[in-house]
Amino acid sequence: MQCTRKVTDQIYWVGASDRRLAKFENLFPIPRGVSYNSYVILDEKTALMDTADSSVSERFMENVKETLAGRELDYLVINHMEPDHCANIAAVIERYPNVTVVGNAKTIQMMGQFYAGTTPGDTLLVKEGDMLSLGKHSLTFVMAPMVHWPEAMVSYETTEKILFSADAFGTFGALNGVLFDDEIDFNCIWMEDARRYYTNIVGKYGPQVQALLKKASALDIRMICPLHGPVWRSQLGTLLEKYDKWSKYEAEEDGVLIVYGSMYGNTENAADVIASEIAEQGMTNIAMYDASVTDCSYLIAEAFRYNRIVVAAPTYNAGLFAPVEHFLNDMKALNIQNKKIALLENGTWAPMAGKHMRTIIETMKNMEIVEPSLAIKSVLQPAQKEDVKKMVEELLK
Ligand code: FEO
Repeated sequence: MQCTRKVTDQIYWVGASDRRLAKFENLFPIPRGVSYNSYVILDEKTALMDTADSSVSERFMENVKETLAGRELDYLVINHMEPDHCANIAAVIERYPNVTVVGNAKTIQMMGQFYAGTTPGDTLLVKEGDMLSLGKHSLTFVMAPMVHWPEAMVSYETTEKILFSADAFGTFGALNGVLFDDEIDFNCIWMEDARRYYTNIVGKYGPQVQALLKKASALDIRMICPLHGPVWRSQLGTLLEKYDKWSKYEAEEDGVLIVYGSMYGNTENAADVIASEIAEQGMTNIAMYDASVTDCSYLIAEAFRYNRIVVAAPTYNAGLFAPVEHFLNDMKALNIQNKKIALLENGTWAPMAGKHMRTIIETMKNMEIVEPSLAIKSVLQPAQKEDVKKMVEELLK
């Protein structure tokens, strides 16, 4: 049966949630599921704003059909060509053969790459600032390249002042009946997923997000309808403030993230001693993770969140213990910057982890490594307690 929500009198959410998928993009665990949002505008002309993932095709197509209630679909606006949103383009065109597909030049090029042989009734190529009138509603198009694909754009509806924002302002998490930000407990339940979604998927593209925020600030936005997660109408300021911080790579909190790898518990013990010393010196905002246990996407979100980081790792195969190496390489790939980092290496006969950690960190922007770093052979020795104290003092300065 149709399962939709009314966004405004003439705009409907026609998306669906997936609670079966283990990993989004086959990379990121989503224990709370994910929603694929799509919207129908009913005016003199009808418009569908993006489609949805193949996992929810049946629900999505039924929602569109029932919402249109026998009317034709005039426009399919494609804000983003990633398959979690465009997988049903062919199905929509087959069901509504006279539909005009609206996209920019890159959108249409990618459509040919993903769906060769799919022929819309017509295509409408749009560029920055172009307008499309649907009757009482009008859409204007704003290009958002690399947020987070090159063809990405957002559409602003000028009458109801709604921004259809593509992936921007989206979050992980299934919509369990709720749709709007004032129907959810954002800070307690959704915030962590919003941060993990942004930092892992869009995090690399801070400057491009800043460019989009600048364009958005020129618009009078009453509501944001993203392609994942809740629709924003009551807490726009909270979300925009977070996006501003994340995209400038500014930490949200003064605190310490400790990420360690440990084979037999000795590096973990050293990390615990460091954590205790951090608390002893008055900093109690500490988050601590075993890189072998916690998925890297959570570590990345925390690395965006905190301004100080401790990384502790054993040497392995004359290199760096793989889970920690993965974390540092992911930090680099996602452009994380502006952190103070303390390092601890462990090596029973030829410690090399520290050198490898430095090599990766030194390629990142504005990272301050606390000197001297700490090296242990097999286990942290009682005689090194003073070295731990000094390293922590430097870290917290
Ligand atoms: Fe939700 Fe970039 O796709």
